[in-house]
Amino acid sequence: MKAARIHQFGGSDTVAIEEVEVPKLKPKHALVRVVAAGVNPVDWMVREHSYNPRGADRVPMTLGQDFAGIIERVAPGSRSQFREGDEVFGEAWGTFAEEVSVPVKDLVRKPAGIDFVTAAALPMPGLTAWQIVRTARVSKRKRVLVHGAGGPVGSLVAQLAKRKGSYVIATASRSNFRFLRRIRVDEVIDYEHGRFEEKVSDVDVVIEHLGGDVQKRSFRVLKPGGMLINLMGEIDRPAARKARVRGVLFGMKYDTRDLARLAALAADGTIDPHVSKVLSLDEVRMGLDMNQRGRSHGKVVLRVG
Ligand SMILES: NC(=O)c1ccc[n+]([C@@H]2O[C@H](COP(=O)([O-])OP(=O)(O)OC[C@H]3O[C@@H](n4cnc5c(N)ncnc54)[C@H](OP(=O)(O)O)[C@@H]3O)[C@@H](O)[C@H]2O)c1
Repeated sequence: MKAARIHQFGGSDTVAIEEVEVPKLKPKHALVRVVAAGVNPVDWMVREHSYNPRGADRVPMTLGQDFAGIIERVAPGSRSQFREGDEVFGEAWGTFAEEVSVPVKDLVRKPAGIDFVTAAALPMPGLTAWQIVRTARVSKRKRVLVHGAGGPVGSLVAQLAKRKGSYVIATASRSNFRFLRRIRVDEVIDYEHGRFEEKVSDVDVVIEHLGGDVQKRSFRVLKPGGMLINLMGEIDRPAARKARVRGVLFGMKYDTRDLARLAALAADGTIDPHVSKVLSLDEVRMGLDMNQRGRSHGKVVLRVG
């Protein structure tokens, strides 16, 4: 089978499409034929070894985590509702490949109402957005500022917050304005031209992944008692105390029940994961580079099979 592999950590040129053996089916696993795989910032972070959790810390390695596909085989003796031929999606290690072995406990059934590309766009950004909205207790009365609201995580946070009835203010570059108007965010601010803190105030929740100056300026727009959620492990605690707001370092936890709920919302049209580009597996380097350079302006998905 074909797989996007690295034999050393590093830049884009370390990634090669190789012919490798189909993974061995481990106990309690299913072998899934990958139809589509979502590209996330963690994929190039893994490639560069700047993110190296267990499972993605040794070379040679097949890249990729988010996937949607069709079950080829389920390991004998696995207690599972899943059967050969079922359409599933979720997260696993090594999904930029034609086949992947996935623990059956991590599989989620793909609703018939969404295609494989849409399903593959959901796991990491969708779960992150879902759990952020829960952490922030987003509700009708709240004003929510979403930085990077045109990106995969930000666009889903914005849609889920709108669904809860919040007033949503989005920062984005112009390329995402049309999408943001379509999902009916209340205000859009062009982060490339102008300063959001001159246009926004009295915010209950800020979601940001940029830290540094963006975080510093975000503290100025929050109400006392508000919450700032950072996605990249950076909170200026003294600044948060001074602004009398709660700083939250957010980490997504993989949860198949949350993912099934999200998929149902995608299937009934409540949320759109904002796929901006579909590439082939052979174009994986381009997909990773587009994301790393801030050029994906939405979700990049690889169509594998
Ligand atoms: N902690 C966790 O558990 C967790 C989980 C998932 C993701 N993350 C992190 O969360 C972040 C977002 O993920 P993603 O998949 O949506 O990433 P992405 O595809 O890289 O999108 C990021 C978005 O940020 C926007 N942006 C760039 N500079 C900006 C600025 N100065 N002000 C406002 N927006 C700006 C871009 O908007 P335009 O397209 O409009 O230019 C882009 O769409 C990433 O850093 C990722 O690593 C963390």
